[in-house]
Amino acid sequence: MAIKLTWLGHGGWSIQTADHTILLDPFLTECPTATESADSIAADFILVSHGHFDHIADVPAIAKRTGAQVIAIYEIAQWLEKNHQIEGSIGMNIGGGIAMPFGHVKMTPAFHSSQLPDGSYGGEPAGFLLTIDGKRIYFACDTGLFGDMELIGAVGIDLAVLPIGDLFTMGPGDSIAAIQLLKPKKVAPAHYATWPPIAQDADAWASSVKEFTSAEPIVVQPGESFEL
Ligand code: NI
Ligand code: MN
Repeated sequence: MAIKLTWLGHGGWSIQTADHTILLDPFLTECPTATESADSIAADFILVSHGHFDHIADVPAIAKRTGAQVIAIYEIAQWLEKNHQIEGSIGMNIGGGIAMPFGHVKMTPAFHSSQLPDGSYGGEPAGFLLTIDGKRIYFACDTGLFGDMELIGAVGIDLAVLPIGDLFTMGPGDSIAAIQLLKPKKVAPAHYATWPPIAQDADAWASSVKEFTSAEPIVVQPGESFEL
């Protein structure tokens, strides 16, 4: 069965498999481009890449309402338990992997920062390499370009999701270099168009992807989906 990916706007995604819905960095309530509500979105699992507001703000409420299990770096899993009484989260760390009911999750490095909204230390920022039904999906999450993306891509990536907003993460130019290192079959942009400082021309980006890489660009609007 196909995996359905829906861009929630900003860095947020919903990944639907035959049996589970996995959210990644859902940011809805204060996201101007979001089409879903934190009060009604479905979730069985929630992946959190780092502690910044625009990735974690809605996570406690969604986890409490749905009972979804959170997967995050150890410090964030601890913070969610201490500060938001979220029990049973999976705390992991960079380079580690875990088999979950929906597939395999490996935590990858990200070059960014990760202070939690109350000023607490959020551990290291991360990305995720997911293996679901034999498909490998890499979410770089908030990061700058780094050369070890070549190692991450060496396993063979079906879809890479990369930030292109610039300012807080890599921009469109560095994302092309990232695609050249990762060599994914398909690539989708994220973490742009939310606010004016990270506005980007996604169609121009897609043209560059076609010109300078062998990946197929997939551009969707917030609330839109595609299948893998
Ligand atoms: Ni961030
Ligand atoms: Mn961010």
